[in-house]
Amino acid sequence: MHTIEELRAMIKAELERQEYVGEPRSLYEPIIYMLEDGGKRLRPLLALLAYNLYRDDVEKALKPAIGIEIFHNYTLLHDDVMDDASLRRGRPTVHKRWNSNVAILSGDAAAVTAYKCIEHCDDKYLRRGIDGFNQVALDVCRGQQYDMEFESRDDVTEEEYLKMIYLKTSVLIAGSLRHGALIAGAPENEYMTLYEFGGHLGQAFQLQDDYLDVYGDVREFGKNIGGDIVTNKKTYMLIKALELAEGSAREELLGWIARKEFVPAEKIAAVTRIYDRLGIAGVARQKIDYYIEKSFETLERIQVKQAFRATFMEVIRELVGRKK
Ligand code: IPE
Ligand code: IPE
Ligand code: MG
Ligand code: MG
Ligand code: MG
Repeated sequence: MHTIEELRAMIKAELERQEYVGEPRSLYEPIIYMLEDGGKRLRPLLALLAYNLYRDDVEKALKPAIGIEIFHNYTLLHDDVMDDASLRRGRPTVHKRWNSNVAILSGDAAAVTAYKCIEHCDDKYLRRGIDGFNQVALDVCRGQQYDMEFESRDDVTEEEYLKMIYLKTSVLIAGSLRHGALIAGAPENEYMTLYEFGGHLGQAFQLQDDYLDVYGDVREFGKNIGGDIVTNKKTYMLIKALELAEGSAREELLGWIARKEFVPAEKIAAVTRIYDRLGIAGVARQKIDYYIEKSFETLERIQVKQAFRATFMEVIRELVGRKK
Protein backbone atom coordinates (compact mmCIF):
# COMPACT_ATOMS: atom_id res chain seq x y z
CA MET A 1 0.00 0.00 0.00
CA HIS A 2 1.29 3.41 -0.98
CA THR A 3 1.29 6.51 1.16
CA ILE A 4 -0.42 9.70 0.01
CA GLU A 5 3.00 11.32 -0.45
CA GLU A 6 4.18 8.49 -2.70
CA LEU A 7 1.05 8.68 -4.83
CA ARG A 8 1.36 12.47 -5.10
CA ALA A 9 4.97 12.13 -6.22
CA MET A 10 3.99 9.55 -8.86
CA ILE A 11 1.23 11.80 -10.21
CA LYS A 12 3.60 14.75 -10.37
CA ALA A 13 6.28 12.76 -12.19
CA GLU A 14 3.78 11.37 -14.70
CA LEU A 15 2.41 14.85 -15.46
CA GLU A 16 5.93 16.19 -15.87
CA ARG A 17 6.62 13.68 -18.63
CA GLN A 18 4.27 15.74 -20.79
CA GLU A 19 3.72 12.82 -23.12
CA TYR A 20 0.53 14.43 -24.37
CA VAL A 21 2.28 17.39 -25.99
CA GLY A 22 2.17 17.62 -29.79
CA GLU A 23 2.16 20.17 -32.59
CA PRO A 24 1.55 23.05 -32.76
CA ARG A 25 3.11 23.67 -29.40
CA SER A 26 0.97 26.77 -28.95
CA LEU A 27 -2.10 24.52 -28.66
CA TYR A 28 -0.51 22.66 -25.76
CA GLU A 29 1.23 25.59 -24.07
CA PRO A 30 -1.88 26.59 -22.06
CA ILE A 31 -2.39 22.96 -21.00
CA ILE A 32 1.21 22.78 -19.79
CA TYR A 33 0.66 26.13 -18.05
CA MET A 34 -2.38 24.73 -16.25
CA LEU A 35 -0.76 21.45 -15.29
CA GLU A 36 2.66 22.70 -14.26
CA ASP A 37 1.40 24.89 -11.45
CA GLY A 38 -0.18 22.08 -9.59
CA GLY A 39 -3.38 22.53 -7.75
CA LYS A 40 -4.28 19.90 -5.21
CA ARG A 41 -4.50 17.05 -7.72
CA LEU A 42 -7.21 15.55 -5.61
CA ARG A 43 -8.96 13.58 -8.35
CA PRO A 44 -5.99 11.52 -9.58
CA LEU A 45 -5.08 10.89 -5.95
CA LEU A 46 -8.55 9.51 -5.27
CA ALA A 47 -8.39 7.38 -8.42
CA LEU A 48 -5.07 5.87 -7.34
CA LEU A 49 -6.24 5.34 -3.77
CA ALA A 50 -9.30 3.50 -5.04
CA TYR A 51 -7.16 1.41 -7.37
CA ASN A 52 -4.74 0.70 -4.56
CA LEU A 53 -7.58 -0.72 -2.47
CA TYR A 54 -7.59 -3.69 -4.83
CA ARG A 55 -4.19 -3.79 -6.50
CA ASP A 56 -0.62 -2.88 -5.67
CA ASP A 57 0.67 -2.06 -9.15
CA VAL A 58 -0.57 1.54 -9.07
CA GLU A 59 1.83 2.56 -11.84
CA LYS A 60 -0.58 0.81 -14.21
CA ALA A 61 -3.31 3.27 -13.23
CA LEU A 62 -1.15 6.37 -13.54
CA LYS A 63 -2.08 7.24 -17.12
CA PRO A 64 -5.84 7.18 -16.50
CA ALA A 65 -5.26 9.03 -13.22
CA ILE A 66 -3.51 11.93 -14.92
CA GLY A 67 -6.14 11.72 -17.65
CA ILE A 68 -8.69 12.57 -14.99
CA GLU A 69 -6.55 15.49 -13.81
CA ILE A 70 -6.26 16.74 -17.40
CA PHE A 71 -10.02 16.43 -17.74
CA HIS A 72 -10.48 18.48 -14.56
CA ASN A 73 -8.17 21.16 -15.92
CA TYR A 74 -10.12 21.26 -19.17
CA THR A 75 -13.28 22.02 -17.17
CA LEU A 76 -11.42 24.78 -15.34
CA LEU A 77 -10.18 26.33 -18.60
CA HIS A 78 -13.75 26.68 -19.81
CA ASP A 79 -15.16 27.50 -16.38
CA ASP A 80 -12.85 30.50 -16.03
CA VAL A 81 -14.13 31.89 -19.33
CA MET A 82 -17.73 31.32 -18.25
CA ASP A 83 -17.15 32.87 -14.81
CA ASP A 84 -14.92 35.62 -16.21
CA ALA A 85 -12.35 34.72 -13.57
CA SER A 86 -8.93 36.32 -13.81
CA LEU A 87 -6.94 34.39 -11.22
CA ARG A 88 -6.39 30.67 -10.71
CA ARG A 89 -3.77 29.05 -8.49
CA GLY A 90 -2.34 32.50 -7.94
CA ARG A 91 -1.72 33.15 -11.63
CA PRO A 92 -3.64 34.77 -14.49
CA THR A 93 -6.23 32.45 -16.00
CA VAL A 94 -5.59 31.17 -19.51
CA HIS A 95 -8.15 33.42 -21.18
CA LYS A 96 -6.61 36.45 -19.46
CA ARG A 97 -3.04 35.52 -20.22
CA TRP A 98 -3.86 34.53 -23.81
CA ASN A 99 -7.49 35.00 -24.88
CA SER A 100 -10.84 33.18 -24.91
CA ASN A 101 -10.21 31.47 -28.24
CA VAL A 102 -7.09 29.92 -26.77
CA ALA A 103 -8.96 28.82 -23.64
CA ILE A 104 -11.73 27.24 -25.72
CA LEU A 105 -9.52 25.36 -28.17
CA SER A 106 -6.80 24.30 -25.75
CA GLY A 107 -9.63 23.25 -23.44
CA ASP A 108 -11.06 21.07 -26.19
CA ALA A 109 -7.62 19.60 -26.86
CA ALA A 110 -7.23 18.92 -23.14
CA ALA A 111 -10.57 17.10 -23.04
CA VAL A 112 -9.58 14.78 -25.90
CA THR A 113 -6.11 14.31 -24.42
CA ALA A 114 -7.80 13.33 -21.18
CA TYR A 115 -9.80 10.62 -22.90
CA LYS A 116 -6.70 9.29 -24.61
CA CYS A 117 -5.09 8.85 -21.19
CA ILE A 118 -8.21 7.43 -19.55
CA GLU A 119 -8.35 4.76 -22.26
CA HIS A 120 -5.20 3.16 -20.86
CA CYS A 121 -6.71 0.18 -19.13
CA ASP A 122 -7.35 -3.50 -19.78
CA ASP A 123 -9.67 -3.98 -22.75
CA LYS A 124 -12.21 -5.70 -20.56
CA TYR A 125 -12.77 -2.46 -18.61
CA LEU A 126 -12.67 -0.13 -21.58
CA ARG A 127 -16.36 -0.01 -22.48
CA ARG A 128 -17.52 0.48 -18.90
CA GLY A 129 -14.72 2.94 -18.23
CA ILE A 130 -15.55 5.15 -21.20
CA ASP A 131 -19.31 4.86 -20.63
CA GLY A 132 -18.75 5.92 -17.04
CA PHE A 133 -16.62 8.82 -18.07
CA ASN A 134 -19.08 9.97 -20.70
CA GLN A 135 -21.77 10.09 -18.05
CA VAL A 136 -19.48 12.15 -15.80
CA ALA A 137 -18.51 14.53 -18.62
CA LEU A 138 -22.11 15.15 -19.59
CA ASP A 139 -23.17 15.62 -15.97
CA VAL A 140 -20.48 18.29 -15.56
CA CYS A 141 -21.91 20.14 -18.58
CA ARG A 142 -25.43 19.84 -17.14
CA GLY A 143 -24.26 21.19 -13.80
CA GLN A 144 -22.38 24.05 -15.41
CA GLN A 145 -25.48 24.98 -17.41
CA TYR A 146 -27.58 25.11 -14.22
CA ASP A 147 -24.84 27.13 -12.55
CA MET A 148 -24.97 29.73 -15.32
CA GLU A 149 -28.77 29.84 -15.46
CA PHE A 150 -29.01 30.28 -11.71
CA GLU A 151 -26.99 33.53 -11.93
CA SER A 152 -30.07 35.33 -13.23
CA ARG A 153 -32.60 33.71 -10.90
CA ASP A 154 -33.34 34.74 -7.32
CA ASP A 155 -35.58 31.83 -6.39
CA VAL A 156 -33.08 28.96 -6.58
CA THR A 157 -33.85 26.47 -3.84
CA GLU A 158 -31.39 24.62 -1.66
CA GLU A 159 -32.45 21.41 -3.38
CA GLU A 160 -31.74 22.85 -6.82
CA TYR A 161 -28.37 24.10 -5.62
CA LEU A 162 -27.41 20.71 -4.19
CA LYS A 163 -28.30 19.03 -7.47
CA MET A 164 -26.35 21.62 -9.45
CA ILE A 165 -23.14 21.19 -7.44
CA TYR A 166 -23.58 17.44 -7.48
CA LEU A 167 -23.51 17.55 -11.27
CA LYS A 168 -20.81 20.15 -11.80
CA THR A 169 -18.38 18.96 -9.12
CA SER A 170 -19.28 15.82 -7.19
CA VAL A 171 -19.71 13.44 -10.11
CA LEU A 172 -16.12 14.00 -11.23
CA ILE A 173 -14.79 13.32 -7.75
CA ALA A 174 -17.07 10.28 -7.51
CA GLY A 175 -16.13 9.19 -11.02
CA SER A 176 -12.42 9.36 -10.20
CA LEU A 177 -12.89 6.86 -7.38
CA ARG A 178 -15.17 4.68 -9.46
CA HIS A 179 -12.76 4.60 -12.38
CA GLY A 180 -9.77 3.73 -10.19
CA ALA A 181 -11.67 0.88 -8.58
CA LEU A 182 -13.14 -0.33 -11.88
CA ILE A 183 -9.82 -0.72 -13.64
CA ALA A 184 -8.44 -2.51 -10.59
CA GLY A 185 -11.13 -5.13 -11.00
CA ALA A 186 -13.20 -4.20 -7.96
CA PRO A 187 -16.63 -5.81 -7.61
CA GLU A 188 -19.41 -3.60 -8.95
CA ASN A 189 -21.10 -3.03 -5.59
CA GLU A 190 -17.82 -1.71 -4.22
CA TYR A 191 -16.96 0.68 -7.02
CA MET A 192 -20.52 1.97 -6.88
CA THR A 193 -20.21 2.47 -3.12
CA LEU A 194 -16.99 4.40 -3.74
CA TYR A 195 -18.92 6.49 -6.27
CA GLU A 196 -21.49 7.23 -3.60
CA PHE A 197 -18.76 8.10 -1.11
CA GLY A 198 -17.22 10.48 -3.66
CA GLY A 199 -20.61 12.07 -4.25
CA HIS A 200 -20.91 13.07 -0.60
CA LEU A 201 -17.28 14.14 -0.46
CA GLY A 202 -17.83 16.24 -3.58
CA GLN A 203 -20.79 18.04 -2.01
CA ALA A 204 -18.64 18.95 1.00
CA PHE A 205 -15.86 19.97 -1.36
CA GLN A 206 -17.96 22.39 -3.43
CA LEU A 207 -19.63 23.81 -0.32
CA GLN A 208 -16.15 24.47 1.01
CA ASP A 209 -15.16 26.08 -2.30
CA ASP A 210 -18.16 28.41 -2.05
CA TYR A 211 -17.25 29.18 1.56
CA LEU A 212 -13.63 29.97 0.64
CA ASP A 213 -14.82 32.19 -2.20
CA VAL A 214 -16.14 34.48 0.53
CA TYR A 215 -13.98 33.77 3.56
CA GLY A 216 -10.73 32.52 2.03
CA ASP A 217 -7.45 34.34 1.61
CA VAL A 218 -6.48 35.10 -1.98
CA ARG A 219 -2.83 34.16 -1.32
CA GLU A 220 -3.83 30.67 -0.21
CA PHE A 221 -6.99 30.16 -2.26
CA GLY A 222 -5.25 31.37 -5.44
CA LYS A 223 -8.54 32.72 -6.80
CA ASN A 224 -10.02 36.17 -6.35
CA ILE A 225 -12.20 36.37 -3.27
CA GLY A 226 -15.79 37.42 -3.92
CA GLY A 227 -15.99 36.23 -7.52
CA ASP A 228 -19.22 34.38 -6.72
CA ILE A 229 -20.73 37.47 -5.08
CA VAL A 230 -19.88 39.68 -8.06
CA THR A 231 -21.51 37.28 -10.55
CA ASN A 232 -24.58 36.53 -8.38
CA LYS A 233 -23.72 32.84 -8.19
CA LYS A 234 -26.41 31.03 -6.27
CA THR A 235 -24.07 29.53 -3.74
CA TYR A 236 -25.23 27.89 -0.55
CA MET A 237 -24.19 31.07 1.24
CA LEU A 238 -26.41 33.30 -0.88
CA ILE A 239 -29.36 30.93 -0.90
CA LYS A 240 -29.25 30.70 2.90
CA ALA A 241 -28.84 34.46 3.22
CA LEU A 242 -31.89 35.02 1.04
CA GLU A 243 -33.77 32.56 3.22
CA LEU A 244 -32.70 34.10 6.52
CA ALA A 245 -32.50 37.81 5.79
CA GLU A 246 -35.44 39.97 6.82
CA GLY A 247 -36.41 43.58 6.51
CA SER A 248 -33.70 46.01 5.51
CA ALA A 249 -31.01 43.32 5.24
CA ARG A 250 -33.14 41.49 2.70
CA GLU A 251 -33.81 44.70 0.77
CA GLU A 252 -30.13 45.48 0.72
CA LEU A 253 -29.17 42.00 -0.44
CA LEU A 254 -31.74 42.01 -3.25
CA GLY A 255 -30.59 45.51 -4.16
CA TRP A 256 -27.01 44.36 -4.65
CA ILE A 257 -28.13 41.37 -6.69
CA ALA A 258 -30.23 43.57 -8.99
CA ARG A 259 -27.63 46.33 -9.43
CA LYS A 260 -26.12 46.38 -12.90
CA GLU A 261 -23.35 48.86 -12.18
CA PHE A 262 -21.28 48.74 -9.05
CA VAL A 263 -17.77 48.78 -7.72
CA PRO A 264 -16.95 45.06 -7.22
CA ALA A 265 -15.09 45.60 -3.93
CA GLU A 266 -18.09 47.50 -2.51
CA LYS A 267 -20.56 44.79 -3.44
CA ILE A 268 -18.29 42.07 -2.04
CA ALA A 269 -17.85 43.97 1.24
CA ALA A 270 -21.55 44.72 1.60
CA VAL A 271 -22.77 41.21 0.85
CA THR A 272 -20.09 39.70 3.10
CA ARG A 273 -21.26 42.00 5.92
CA ILE A 274 -24.79 40.68 5.48
CA TYR A 275 -23.46 37.09 5.57
CA ASP A 276 -21.57 37.93 8.75
CA ARG A 277 -24.62 39.35 10.45
CA LEU A 278 -26.68 36.30 9.53
CA GLY A 279 -23.99 33.86 10.62
CA ILE A 280 -23.90 32.25 7.18
CA ALA A 281 -20.38 30.88 7.70
CA GLY A 282 -21.63 28.68 10.52
CA VAL A 283 -24.62 27.53 8.48
CA ALA A 284 -22.31 26.52 5.63
CA ARG A 285 -19.89 24.73 7.98
CA GLN A 286 -22.82 22.70 9.32
CA LYS A 287 -23.75 21.55 5.85
CA ILE A 288 -20.13 20.67 5.10
CA ASP A 289 -19.99 18.58 8.28
CA TYR A 290 -23.23 16.87 7.30
CA TYR A 291 -21.75 15.66 4.00
CA ILE A 292 -18.45 14.66 5.57
CA GLU A 293 -20.41 12.56 8.03
CA LYS A 294 -22.37 10.98 5.19
CA SER A 295 -19.17 10.19 3.33
CA PHE A 296 -17.76 8.47 6.45
CA GLU A 297 -20.90 6.40 6.78
CA THR A 298 -20.67 5.31 3.16
CA LEU A 299 -17.03 4.34 3.55
CA GLU A 300 -18.03 2.02 6.39
CA ARG A 301 -19.86 -0.12 3.86
CA ILE A 302 -16.68 -1.06 2.01
CA GLN A 303 -14.65 -3.95 3.30
CA VAL A 304 -11.28 -2.25 3.48
CA LYS A 305 -8.28 -2.72 5.67
CA GLN A 306 -7.98 -0.37 8.59
CA ALA A 307 -4.85 1.22 7.12
CA PHE A 308 -6.72 2.15 3.95
CA ARG A 309 -9.55 3.63 5.89
CA ALA A 310 -7.04 5.72 7.82
CA THR A 311 -5.53 6.99 4.56
CA PHE A 312 -8.92 8.00 3.20
CA MET A 313 -9.69 9.70 6.49
CA GLU A 314 -6.45 11.64 6.15
CA VAL A 315 -7.48 12.90 2.71
CA ILE A 316 -10.89 13.88 4.00
CA ARG A 317 -9.42 15.66 7.01
CA GLU A 318 -7.13 17.62 4.70
CA LEU A 319 -10.07 18.65 2.57
CA VAL A 320 -12.16 19.79 5.50
CA GLY A 321 -9.36 21.98 6.76
CA ARG A 322 -8.31 23.22 3.36
CA LYS A 323 -7.70 26.87 2.66
CA LYS A 324 -6.86 26.45 -1.02
C1 IPE B 1 -11.73 23.65 -8.45
O1 IPE B 1 -11.26 22.40 -8.13
C2 IPE B 1 -13.08 23.51 -9.06
C3 IPE B 1 -14.07 22.99 -8.11
C4 IPE B 1 -14.75 21.92 -8.35
C5 IPE B 1 -14.33 23.70 -6.88
P1 IPE B 1 -10.01 22.21 -7.16
O2 IPE B 1 -10.24 22.97 -5.90
O3 IPE B 1 -9.73 20.76 -7.03
O4 IPE B 1 -8.86 22.93 -7.97
P2 IPE B 1 -7.29 22.63 -8.01
O5 IPE B 1 -7.09 21.65 -9.11
O6 IPE B 1 -6.86 22.12 -6.69
O7 IPE B 1 -6.67 23.95 -8.35
C1 IPE C 1 -16.35 24.57 -10.54
O1 IPE C 1 -17.17 25.51 -9.95
C2 IPE C 1 -17.05 23.54 -11.32
C3 IPE C 1 -16.32 23.16 -12.54
C4 IPE C 1 -15.19 23.66 -12.92
C5 IPE C 1 -16.93 22.14 -13.36
P1 IPE C 1 -16.52 26.92 -9.62
O2 IPE C 1 -16.73 27.88 -10.73
O3 IPE C 1 -16.95 27.31 -8.25
O4 IPE C 1 -14.96 26.57 -9.56
P2 IPE C 1 -13.82 27.62 -9.28
O5 IPE C 1 -14.14 28.30 -7.98
O6 IPE C 1 -13.81 28.57 -10.42
O7 IPE C 1 -12.55 26.81 -9.18
MG1 MG D 1 -15.34 29.27 -11.56
MG1 MG E 1 -18.09 28.08 -12.29
MG1 MG F 1 -15.76 28.39 -6.84
